[in-house]
Amino acid sequence: MADINRKIVLAERPDGMPTLECFRLEEEPGAAPADGEAVVAIEHLSIDAFIRTTLEADSYHGSVPIGGTVSALGVGRVVESRAPGLEVGQAVFAPLGAETRAVLPGGMLQPIDDSEVPATARLGVLGMTTGLTAWFGIHSVGAVKAGETVVVSAAAGAVGSVAGQLAKIAGARVIGLAGGPAKVAYLTDELGLDAGIDYKGEDVPARLRELAPDGIDVYFDNVGGELLDDVLDQIRERARIVICGAISQYQNMNAVRGPSLYLRLAERHARMEGFAVTHFVEEFPKADAELTALVAAGRLSLKEHVLDGIERSPEALLTLFGGGHTGKLLVKI
Ligand SMILES: NC(=O)c1ccc[n+]([C@@H]2O[C@H](COP(=O)([O-])OP(=O)(O)OC[C@H]3O[C@@H](n4cnc5c(N)ncnc54)[C@H](OP(=O)(O)O)[C@@H]3O)[C@@H](O)[C@H]2O)c1
Repeated sequence: MADINRKIVLAERPDGMPTLECFRLEEEPGAAPADGEAVVAIEHLSIDAFIRTTLEADSYHGSVPIGGTVSALGVGRVVESRAPGLEVGQAVFAPLGAETRAVLPGGMLQPIDDSEVPATARLGVLGMTTGLTAWFGIHSVGAVKAGETVVVSAAAGAVGSVAGQLAKIAGARVIGLAGGPAKVAYLTDELGLDAGIDYKGEDVPARLRELAPDGIDVYFDNVGGELLDDVLDQIRERARIVICGAISQYQNMNAVRGPSLYLRLAERHARMEGFAVTHFVEEFPKADAELTALVAAGRLSLKEHVLDGIERSPEALLTLFGGGHTGKLLVKI
């Protein structure tokens, strides 16, 4: 079986929210590595929102052709190597794809040390699209300071869970927005945030007024849409709006709804700044060292929600958008 590759391919482009019919499981004989390449047995895939954007014909993150393997970052282990410096048994992180066995040039495989922390941490709390994203959003873009009031959206998800904890560690008062009372309880009881708002069941503007009567200094936004306007309306002078993502908009990238209250930025001398984590690649070692130290000290953690089997990757992507998980969503191969 080791030589068979099982992969999820794009059967048809979604129109709006993808359905399971947009994907197909295929099997093929495992390709042999060329000179400079290695074969990786994939162990876990990171389920990230950007995967949805790659299903479009045109995408910032690159487009998957019809019949092509769906994109995904992942971790796995080298099982065969013709790449100098990569030994069999080495754990690696890479854009491996939604498959069980990947053949990639050695230069694309980042060796990881899984002796102290499990390899899945390299997708989650220490991962580029989760922990590092939260770190740069909170510190480099949001410049969160002690005593400030910070609001985080999708706060019970992967990036949001880490962002909220990092803002607390920086000494801020943190309010998380999440869908449903169970997630709100998770924010306060497990992540230690000061308060949570159930955006599905509560009046968000009223609750923000109650919880942040002096206004909001930093908004770490993962969601966009209406919630962005709700927060913009209540920002303080010199507020920073961090555009990390806009998951409410990814099903219709050609008609993204922008904020209608953006003039609050002018009225309150505030700024809105977006970023992609890859803009900070030179600073990854610094952020990684800080995150690693926080995890080792027991001050930062991230729950994992794991679906078992490559065939469940399409379901996992739908789970991500439906919010059927808490913390980091992974597929175990
Ligand atoms: N800038 C970067 O470089 C970068 C890198 C990685 C990720 N991101 C962005 O970070 C954000 C979070 O990604 P993640 O991987 O950590 O996912 P996640 O937060 O683990 O999962 C997404 C969450 O979004 C919430 N959600 C879905 N639709 C929503 C809607 N219409 N309104 C409000 N909330 C909604 C759901 O939680 P509820 O149950 O609470 O609704 C869901 O759990 C995404 O926007 C992603 O694009 C940015």
